[in-house]
Amino acid sequence: MSKNIVPHHYKISAEDRRAIKKHNSFLIWFTGLSGSGKSTIANAVEQELFKKGIHTYSLDGDNIRKGINNDLSFSPEDRTENIRRIAEVANLMIDAGIVTLAAFVSPYKKDRQNIKSVVKDINFVEVYVNTSVEECERRDVKGLYAKARKGEIKNMTGISAPYEAPENPDIEIKTETENIEQAVKRIMDFITPKLELNNE
Ligand code: ADX
Repeated sequence: MSKNIVPHHYKISAEDRRAIKKHNSFLIWFTGLSGSGKSTIANAVEQELFKKGIHTYSLDGDNIRKGINNDLSFSPEDRTENIRRIAEVANLMIDAGIVTLAAFVSPYKKDRQNIKSVVKDINFVEVYVNTSVEECERRDVKGLYAKARKGEIKNMTGISAPYEAPENPDIEIKTETENIEQAVKRIMDFITPKLELNNE
């Protein structure tokens, strides 16, 4: 489909935009089961970055699926398309000089691998929010696990659809043994050097 499309090169680059903001831009990707705590932790990290004067934006499965991706279901193909579009959106945000946080179940390894190739390795920080399905089901904040058990929701990750855990995430958060403050601190410690412009 991209045949006959010739990219236009603009004079202002990602480096120029980063320089004006005085910090680097990259993607912090949170993966984990529904209800694992991805959005809560992403939110807390964003607040911490904001306090430091870092320009951020958060993309979140529950919000994005109400807008740009409201045509997609939870079939494996549609989840792949969901993540592909978010990777492209995140790539634009990185180009705009923004530290982007994304919280998506993103259950398939190949889809997460694809994000990395879209935004490039150096711009990708993978955070695995590791909360067991038992604990997510116990919390069941949105009542989705109960519905899945009754068969009212098909393809529920962890119940009737797979979750392929990352093998080598940059950071793994075990929410059953670590509180939000500790998790945020570990993420901030990891990303702080990456914010430095001369660290490219
Ligand atoms: S993903 O698998 O395509 O990455 P995404 O993060 O966008 O999923 O959306 C997950 C959110 O949709 C969950 O947090 C939950 O609130 C809701 N949801 C509804 N149905 C399902 C389902 N079958 N599996 C997982 N999440 C679901």
